[in-house]
Amino acid sequence: MVWSKKILDPEFWRRISPGKGVTPPSVIGDLVATLGLVPPASILDVGCGHGFHAAEFAKRGFNDVSGVDLTPEFVSDARAAFPGVQFTCAEATEHLVSLSEDRHSLIAFLSTTVFGYLPTEADDIRLLRLVRRALKPGGRVVIDQPNHLRLRNTPPARFPVPVETLTLVRSYQLQGYELTTHFEWIDDRTQRVQHKESVTIRLYDSEKICELLAMAGFPHAELYADFKGATFDEAVPSRLIAVATK
Ligand SMILES: C[S@@+](CC[C@H](N)C(=O)[O-])C[C@H]1O[C@@H](n2cnc3c(N)ncnc32)[C@H](O)[C@@H]1O
Repeated sequence: MVWSKKILDPEFWRRISPGKGVTPPSVIGDLVATLGLVPPASILDVGCGHGFHAAEFAKRGFNDVSGVDLTPEFVSDARAAFPGVQFTCAEATEHLVSLSEDRHSLIAFLSTTVFGYLPTEADDIRLLRLVRRALKPGGRVVIDQPNHLRLRNTPPARFPVPVETLTLVRSYQLQGYELTTHFEWIDDRTQRVQHKESVTIRLYDSEKICELLAMAGFPHAELYADFKGATFDEAVPSRLIAVATK
């Protein structure tokens, strides 16, 4: 069991991601160009958080954009900031069950979202099967994750980010497909650790992600190193972006 209940805790997300994702909104322009996506297209951002990726699609002329996230605070922030986008507060798998078949052109999981957060690998496969069901023929799924191998080959490091009067320091530990991120909030004045917690998710390598996609009915996946469409190379890039077509 690698899943952590903290994934369901809005306070946890508020503390570790104060409105910023790992993947900046600017990548959406690159993704649209890489996929050759043109309106009209029906787009769903799964685990949309504050909705800024979904909003970037809408800004580019896509008028059928929706986002789903289980954290109510994020969904209300997203609704207030981007009224042109349809946001739903729901658990991803339940939401996908409720969608019509063959409707979406693109379903995106950005910044290590949802995919890999579910309790078991079988849940991830079920989620992907539901994604396939919701895509129209020719529709695509995008999964954006850190590069498993790069994390495995990188010596332990600490990544500090200033957050108001504190510094949030992340460090990573990889065991098999389980990635544990340790968070420490350090008081800038006293340098004392005020609070710490850890969260574990499953993080798949390129071979495994292709295997799971194949099990869900996507026999071929393209792998990219970034949203501009650079070829994926196991050792170098920081991200692994998998794109599969129904
Ligand atoms: C790392 S954040 C990424 C948010 C956003 N995609 C971004 O790039 O900023 C992960 C998000 O996934 C959401 N989430 C986690 N598990 C989920 C689930 N099972 N169903 C729906 N949302 C989920 C969390 O609420 C959180 O907003």
